[in-house]
Amino acid sequence: MIKFKKLTKKYGNQTALKNINLHINKSDFVFLVGPSGAGKSTLMRLVYREDKPTSGKVFVGGIDVAKIKDAHVPFLRRRMGIVFQDYKLLPCQTVYDNVAYVIRALGMSNEEIDKRVKGALKVVDLFHKINAKTEELSGGEQQRVGIARAIVNGPPLLIADEPTGNLDPKNSQEIIQILEQINRRGTTIVVSTHDQLIVNKFKKRVITLDSGQVIKDECNGIYECR
Ligand SMILES: Nc1ncnc2c1ncn2[C@@H]1O[C@H](COP(=O)(O)OP(=O)(O)O)[C@@H](O)[C@H]1O
Ligand SMILES: [Mg+2]
Repeated sequence: MIKFKKLTKKYGNQTALKNINLHINKSDFVFLVGPSGAGKSTLMRLVYREDKPTSGKVFVGGIDVAKIKDAHVPFLRRRMGIVFQDYKLLPCQTVYDNVAYVIRALGMSNEEIDKRVKGALKVVDLFHKINAKTEELSGGEQQRVGIARAIVNGPPLLIADEPTGNLDPKNSQEIIQILEQINRRGTTIVVSTHDQLIVNKFKKRVITLDSGQVIKDECNGIYECR
């Protein structure tokens, strides 16, 4: 699903990522961990083509992401859901409109939009708040809207950059449980976090970055992955 090959990213003379070689398979659930400044967000931004590598390559679904023309980047992003630490919702709009926003631009029928929005809200257990304004919701609820919006188009890949960074432990666990449920249906999931409690509780593949390099890649803390 995602392949990083000899990937290096520099900002001026600052090296954010150095010679990253990784393979994330279809239907994997991966935690990307490491201290602040380790390169987690940079690695994710390269996957959704917010940025391009300095050298090396990023492949998503076999496609060299850096080679996609700017005008075609929206097509890439339609095949992935992106979840942010600060939710990035439209505050004055309803839960429904926030989730519908992306697929409305795709020219789907209202009936189809309605079906998908309601389906996504059921996955995140927020159907009962469908008409609430997002600014009236708790942080955990807002992040659930963020996840519903990310999955509404049924993407094969979901990327979440510190999705629990602003949440308490209980809400954080709920968010990861929802992502786990989405993963069970076949969606590849990559989650960055520096919450050790979460990483310990949910036994997943853990890729550890430090100063832009992969220093560990383990599954269940038991064996080295590849
Ligand atoms: N747009 C940018 N311009 C300059 N330096 C950046 C930029 N984005 C990230 N960096 C640098 O790259 C390194 C990795 O940052 P980042 O990917 O945000 O780490 P993390 O998400 O693990 O905290 C840091 O040293 C950061 O200062
Ligand atoms: Mg970050």
